[in-house]
Amino acid sequence: MLKTRFDNYPKGKPFSTILGDFLGRGIFNVDGDLWRFQRKMASLELDRFSIRAYAFEIVCYEIKDRLIPLLSSVSGKGDGVLDLQDVFRRFSFDSICRFSFGLDPRCLEITLPMSDFAVAFDLASKLSAERAMTVSPLVWKIKRKLNLGTEKKMKEAIKLINILAQEVIRQKRKMGFLSHKDLLSRFMHSVNDDTFLRDIVISFLLAGRDTVASALTSFFWLLAKYPQVGSAILEEADRVLGPNQELTSYEQMRDLHYLQAAVYESMRLYPPIQFDSKFCEEDDILPDGTLVKRGTRVTYHPYAMGRIEELWGPDCLEFKPERWLRDDDGTFFPENPFKYPVFQAGLRVCLGKEMALLELKCVAISLLRRFQIQLVPSYQTPRFSPGLTATFSGGLPVLVLEKEPTVHQSS
Ligand code: HEM
Repeated sequence: MLKTRFDNYPKGKPFSTILGDFLGRGIFNVDGDLWRFQRKMASLELDRFSIRAYAFEIVCYEIKDRLIPLLSSVSGKGDGVLDLQDVFRRFSFDSICRFSFGLDPRCLEITLPMSDFAVAFDLASKLSAERAMTVSPLVWKIKRKLNLGTEKKMKEAIKLINILAQEVIRQKRKMGFLSHKDLLSRFMHSVNDDTFLRDIVISFLLAGRDTVASALTSFFWLLAKYPQVGSAILEEADRVLGPNQELTSYEQMRDLHYLQAAVYESMRLYPPIQFDSKFCEEDDILPDGTLVKRGTRVTYHPYAMGRIEELWGPDCLEFKPERWLRDDDGTFFPENPFKYPVFQAGLRVCLGKEMALLELKCVAISLLRRFQIQLVPSYQTPRFSPGLTATFSGGLPVLVLEKEPTVHQSS
């Protein structure tokens, strides 16, 4: 479905109609030539060294100037319970907006302000996901026609998003975009149509925001439950970067094998996108002989696949980063992406994987170095809320305690 018969399993019309008002013709929501064009253009840009350095700069700024001060401000306060999931959603929204648009919504400033853009974006994605849950698509289509209830709210939210996106594009055209490093400016070299530009960038925002927040939330939940993994991450960082040193470049991360293993292991158990569906275009037979009729919705399920004993062994339910390390030299061993389709696999594999890994690793090292993060004593095993991305219902309430200040700040 993802590999040999990729063209026979497009995302399909049912989903593109549901997400169409919000995402338009953006990469996340189209198939065929429209997808191929955006994929090629985006891959070219994302492979450039300059954009990786830009992503690193954004993430470091967001951590040093916002995330750390925020956690320090609640550290040691008896009533200083912090919802880490909310914090990570703010972190990833600021980061992906700056990366995609060159726009800073400042959601993670210390007062935790509400950003109109973030609220409208949240509402539009939540209501788009809810469309998929109505008994029949006719229900939301009629409500949309009559401009009623949730559909009215959705229209208003999308209007606000569009005004803001158009304003950013207009400003960039006026001021010149040639020297800007964000994705939108880069795409403006090859695309002239403003609506299309808006669609491309909004798709990136949706793809790169909740996924990263979800991965960070479950990673920190696991780190709180398995403190020995946090200690091993710091030991490796001390060895590779120098005692208490910060990451100073994107390249340094290549040598942090245990950290990479811990991040992969966390997403094996808690993939941000738990399942993903496609629609079969022409009758097909799967390798195991299953007949798939044209028009059937086919779903692969990374959450379930990560917990299958035949794939991962009898200890498949344990959080064990070591399973990703080679026995002889302790280096990271990447699994077949079709066994681990957390970022999907094949031609449509995630375009933001490197950016996502960068965010997870930088946040992990910075926070583990400075803070002890404990679950509030009453916290039970998390439950998920329904939606496009895995979200802990009720958030991740934690208590934060600052460690002795031995860290040397990088510039
Ligand atoms: C841990 C974080 C992330 C995970 C687990 C993840 C996972 C995925 C998955 C499963 C898909 C396939 C979805 C589908 O086709 O239905 C996907 C696609 C995509 N992702 Fe990610 N993603 C993450 C972060 C990011 C980030 C940070 C960005 C942006 C910088 C991004 C950009 C994209 C784009 C543009 C696509 C569409 C690719 C295409 O259709 O050709 N992702 N991602």
